[in-house]
Amino acid sequence: MKEKFYITTPIYYPSANFHIGHCYTTIIADAIARFKRLEGYDVFFQTGTDDHGQKIENKAKETEKAPKDYVDEIVENAKDLWKTLKISYDYFIRTTDDNHIKAVQQIFETLYKQGDIYKGEYKGLYCTPCESFWTESQLVDGKCPDCEREVKEVSEEAYFFKLSKYQKQLTEYIESHPDFIQPVSRKNEMINNFIKPGLADLCVSRSSFTWGIPVSFDEKHVIYVWIDALSNYITSLGYTSDDSTLFDKFWPADLHLVGKEIVRFHTIIWPAILMALDLPLPKQIFGHGWLIIDGGKISKSLGNYQDPREYVRTYGVDAVRYFALKEVPFGNDGNFSEEALISRTNSDLVNNLGNLVTRTVSMTNKYLDDKAIRLDNDGEVDNNLISEIKKLQNSVKVKMNEYKVNEALTEIMDLLKKCNKYIDDTTPWIVAKDPEKKDYLNTILYNILEGIRISAILLQAFIPDTSEKILNILATDKRSFDDLEFGQVEEYLVKEAQIIYERIENK
Ligand code: MSP
Repeated sequence: MKEKFYITTPIYYPSANFHIGHCYTTIIADAIARFKRLEGYDVFFQTGTDDHGQKIENKAKETEKAPKDYVDEIVENAKDLWKTLKISYDYFIRTTDDNHIKAVQQIFETLYKQGDIYKGEYKGLYCTPCESFWTESQLVDGKCPDCEREVKEVSEEAYFFKLSKYQKQLTEYIESHPDFIQPVSRKNEMINNFIKPGLADLCVSRSSFTWGIPVSFDEKHVIYVWIDALSNYITSLGYTSDDSTLFDKFWPADLHLVGKEIVRFHTIIWPAILMALDLPLPKQIFGHGWLIIDGGKISKSLGNYQDPREYVRTYGVDAVRYFALKEVPFGNDGNFSEEALISRTNSDLVNNLGNLVTRTVSMTNKYLDDKAIRLDNDGEVDNNLISEIKKLQNSVKVKMNEYKVNEALTEIMDLLKKCNKYIDDTTPWIVAKDPEKKDYLNTILYNILEGIRISAILLQAFIPDTSEKILNILATDKRSFDDLEFGQVEEYLVKEAQIIYERIENK
């Protein structure tokens, strides 16, 4: 039986149309999901939207729409964006889905019945016009950070989750599972800044707004949006439903991929809820950095970004995917700019990969009548290249197992550079002039074709369209992960050479 792999993105707030930062997380998750599928895993890749909450209720009011109508439009738009970016998700969850709502209500009820949720009093600073609660530290000059008006101290009846009860168990778990929170810097931050100072019980219901899942046994309360949202990772699998096949197969998740600012929800609140429900914890939470623009946040109010589909239209889908996967060391912040996108595309996809394929195939067209066959008559320079090609699959797999996506791509790009250098060193256009060296010429081109083929098989996870184009030009059906060994193709009969990736002129 195939081994399973369950990977998730966060579920995004559909408060406005998505930007390149949301694409960043989703493209990385997609590349990991595709890679695992190619490795033979039975993959469940999930994304979705976090439809509830006061912020969305307010946004909908501004546009005079019902909250559900407001989010429906954005969700449609998001699904189209994922299609444009070739995101291969298996399931798209929305927290407004009936089965999710039912399951969250049941989870809340279970926790209430067993005493992990109790009724108490929520004291806070309230801004009446904004209908928002704030903490002392969120205030700006003692006033509401949104509208700058006076806030007043109020208290309301609310439900609380006994987070404090899980402090010890959680600390022990994190300490004894070094891979649970990655990168390590985020793990230390969680322990030192949040857990060690002490976990307070968490207010998990609100009665000041209505756009949420009602507490089933006390309907004037809606369930706190993070309890609603985090549960998505199990409700989608049918947790609490009659059919638990997916849940039994895929839970616990292998990887929750999340942005750095929401690591604490995923590594403190979520595990504590799972512990209370007596369920296994996800194997890993990876907190990645942000894409920033000009050193700052990507923000609608600053108007510093366009619809990501515009980038795809101008530069092609694989340029956008490749940039997201390669440019930023995973875990760090990285700058996004169109200039950086253009230069990354030209250097890697056009010069390194594209030129290699075009010149190798055109030499095969010209000197060998499209044909290159496997012979075993190599000199040292050839064996050096062959041994590099042979190492590639393993080094890429190792990096991908650690989710170091950008480093996995570096391995591939480095091999392609070596192939380019091999052409320069062996000068096939000179070898072609000597009819007695026809076998050697064949071997040179065969070796590079194998390097290209093996790279293209691996690249299917990252830039699927371009890889397919290359494998089609090589006219080979040896394109699965079972075909990654050097020398699997007996004979190439390549198609006419063509441009692989169009150079982008600077704007
Ligand atoms: N709805 C919650 C998540 C609930 S998960 C159970 C949420 N939504 S969000 O839309 O605000 O953010 C979703 C994800 O997008 C986060 O992981 C966040 O880090 C990521 N990004 C938003 N802007 C980003 C960048 N500029 N760069 C990279 N990722 C960014 O939080």
